[in-house]
Amino acid sequence: MADYRTHEYDVLVIGAGGAGLRAAIEASAQGVSVGIVCKSLLGKAHTVMAEGGIAAAMANVDERDGWRVHFSDTMRGGQYLNNSHMAQIHAKEAPERVRELEGWGALFDRTQEGRILQRNFGGHRYPRLAHVGDRTGLEMIRTLQDHGIHQGVQVHMECTVVRLLKEGDRVIGAFGYEREKGRFLLFKAKAVVLATGGIGRAYKITSNSWEYTGDGHTLAYDAGAELIDMEFVQFHPTGMVWPPSVRGILVTEGVRGEGGILYNSENKRFMFDDIPDLYKDQTADNEDEGWRYTQGDRDARRPPELLTRDHVARCIVREIKEGRGSEHGGVYLDIAWIKERLPNAEEHIKKKLPSMYHQFKELAGIEITKEPMEVGPTTHYVMGGIRVDAETQMSNVPGLFAAGECGAGLHGANRLGGNSLSDLLVFGKRAGEHAARFAKDAKASAVNEAEVENIAIECLAPLENSEEPNGEGPFQIQYELQDLMQDLVGIVRTKKEIEEALERIQELKKRSKTVSVPGNREYNGGWHTALDLHNLLTVSEAIARAALAREESRGAHFREDFPAKSDDEAKTNVVLNKESDGDMALVRQPVVELTSEMSEIIKEMK
Ligand code: FUM
Repeated sequence: MADYRTHEYDVLVIGAGGAGLRAAIEASAQGVSVGIVCKSLLGKAHTVMAEGGIAAAMANVDERDGWRVHFSDTMRGGQYLNNSHMAQIHAKEAPERVRELEGWGALFDRTQEGRILQRNFGGHRYPRLAHVGDRTGLEMIRTLQDHGIHQGVQVHMECTVVRLLKEGDRVIGAFGYEREKGRFLLFKAKAVVLATGGIGRAYKITSNSWEYTGDGHTLAYDAGAELIDMEFVQFHPTGMVWPPSVRGILVTEGVRGEGGILYNSENKRFMFDDIPDLYKDQTADNEDEGWRYTQGDRDARRPPELLTRDHVARCIVREIKEGRGSEHGGVYLDIAWIKERLPNAEEHIKKKLPSMYHQFKELAGIEITKEPMEVGPTTHYVMGGIRVDAETQMSNVPGLFAAGECGAGLHGANRLGGNSLSDLLVFGKRAGEHAARFAKDAKASAVNEAEVENIAIECLAPLENSEEPNGEGPFQIQYELQDLMQDLVGIVRTKKEIEEALERIQELKKRSKTVSVPGNREYNGGWHTALDLHNLLTVSEAIARAALAREESRGAHFREDFPAKSDDEAKTNVVLNKESDGDMALVRQPVVELTSEMSEIIKEMK
């Protein structure tokens, strides 16, 4: 029989980034016992990669802002595939969540009057991103971590959950292992909140670190939850491209928010060449007007570098493909140019972008106050994920909740920068609150010992297989998957490429069943990767299947063979779920209908 330690909580939160911590804090405040599991050390989360700020219509810098404008910007950015009820809740509740965070000790940059300062970001009509330099996500994690610990939330660091446990339809716990010793863990829980973040490690070039292998998406899918909008993967336009060892590391949109411009090897500011109709009214068509906007001129229009991420990323790819890229295969991003317009530019850059300053100096030997950066798109975020109820964040599986990046609906076809952090707070809180309520009403349950035994046997298979001579290791499969996702299901896709990707994913799935890993269970990275493969392959298949089904180009999903938007496709979301034989089923479902108030707002804002 497998040996494991058992922990029991009312609410188990899996994932300890912003959403997980906020959920844990809220559940604990409701008076239930809470355990939180994180795959690496507490505080190391992709939340810190949302550097430039948290979007909330506080109207501290421009009093014309308000929840209605934020709602309408989010819907427009998501190309109207968003769950509009989530977008409304998010826009209304984000300011309160930011003030609450401030009350818990978070520091923000200030306006001259002492209010929280807000900066410009892509797709946001007014300066809306509350920030502290370019370290906003880090400050948020620090604050939530301190608050959660003081509230008595139990933390399980360096633990990976491999399976959710159910009784009938309902989730009753989870099974996993400790990375350090390789010991198994059983968590009994009345409700489970998934907050595991994204899928970036399914791609070769990514801002995500090793933990982001689609764990929550896969745990939920395997437990019978629906996945939605998986075709929409966000490629952040600006990741580092040089040197190769740092390729993909994020270069915050805050650089462009502070006036950074993009240009190609011909010294041309290429973003002026292609301004989408949807944003023509808000986008400057000359340098001076764009700069005036950056300086807070209320009548000016945004510079084209602050168009939405999907569009900026595609323009960069076009420049590179057509031979106008930079020396190392990116384009140039220049913030140093603001010296021509701002007397204290150097100081300003160091103050507003301290991490970028150090990142480029230390990693690339570039002084960003004097020289341009080289940047290119990097896989950053997935809009798709577990389908949840807008009010409660519960999935279609009773007792299973999801929040943050692994939950879906808010962002539609493309997420606006900064909406991730507000998403984590708004829906993390709701998930924690409703999970606690669910737990209070839940009856006792019993774990099926035989099921647990089988999961343990499956987990140990890669180590057992090491007896096999010539067994294949897990890393080869992971690299092949990352290469094929990057090449065939990346920023620009075609039917032929996606079909090829699906075929190769099926092959990799077969090979992954027999991988072998030498060594024992203690800190065995090969074993951990072998266990991650199931998740990586599942989310990759989901992305590819959804991408094949959506025969149009919208937001982050661009089909070269269907380059236009389609009115029919606009009305539906792609929903995936696991059939009893293990196959992935795909259905189209109508998008959540707008209320008449929402339609009015959208009409008014256009
Ligand atoms: O560019 C950034 O600072 C990232 C922000 C985000 O993804 O929300």
